[in-house]
Amino acid sequence: MTLPYSLRPAKSDDLVALATVYLSSAAHHVSLDADRYRVPEPAPVVGHFRQALADARDGAILVAELNGTVVGFVQIRRIPDPSAQSMVRPVTKASIDLAVLDDHRGQGMGTALLAAAADWGERAGFTALMLGTLTANVGAVSLYERQGYRTFGALMERPLG
Ligand SMILES: CC(C)(COP(=O)(O)OP(=O)(O)OC[C@H]1O[C@@H](n2cnc3c(N)ncnc32)[C@H](O)[C@@H]1OP(=O)(O)O)[C@@H](O)C(=O)NCCC(=O)NCCS
Repeated sequence: MTLPYSLRPAKSDDLVALATVYLSSAAHHVSLDADRYRVPEPAPVVGHFRQALADARDGAILVAELNGTVVGFVQIRRIPDPSAQSMVRPVTKASIDLAVLDDHRGQGMGTALLAAAADWGERAGFTALMLGTLTANVGAVSLYERQGYRTFGALMERPLG
């Protein structure tokens, strides 16, 4: 079966498209928790992706392209090794960030990007991929679980004042 979209590494022409997808993800996060999230201005988001492509040594950005338009990405970033005093074992892991443009969700691109990130991570010698997500992001959590991700801890917070 021929898929309607293709996956490839991001390139410098993709900066604005990557930022557009990121901003769409930000809007989704605001809808889940407006006290915690915001939709940033586009310029620093473009700057973030420009920087990430410039120092691609410890990571990668893979995009899903549909009819010539970038509609999704997964960003893979090496997690810095723990310092010498840390009790955390020095195992080489990477973190991922995943997003698909709102009008194009539910068509398999997130699944394909996650699989491509795992392939890329294995080839690059990482032992695991990690991610953070809101518990309230139930669709994303079930997608990650189907792809083999398991919850191993919790982030906790006590508001002050
Ligand atoms: C999470 C996300 C990347 C998944 O990409 P996708 O292309 O929609 O995923 P797929 O089509 O491969 O898989 C769909 C699954 O994703 C989940 N999903 C999460 N949000 C969804 C949405 N808005 N629409 C459709 N499916 C969604 C569902 O579990 C769905 O499973 P189902 O087919 O059993 O219903 C995408 O929905 C998205 O960008 N959401 C907003 C940003 C976000 O939450 N990113 C993750 C941050 S941790």
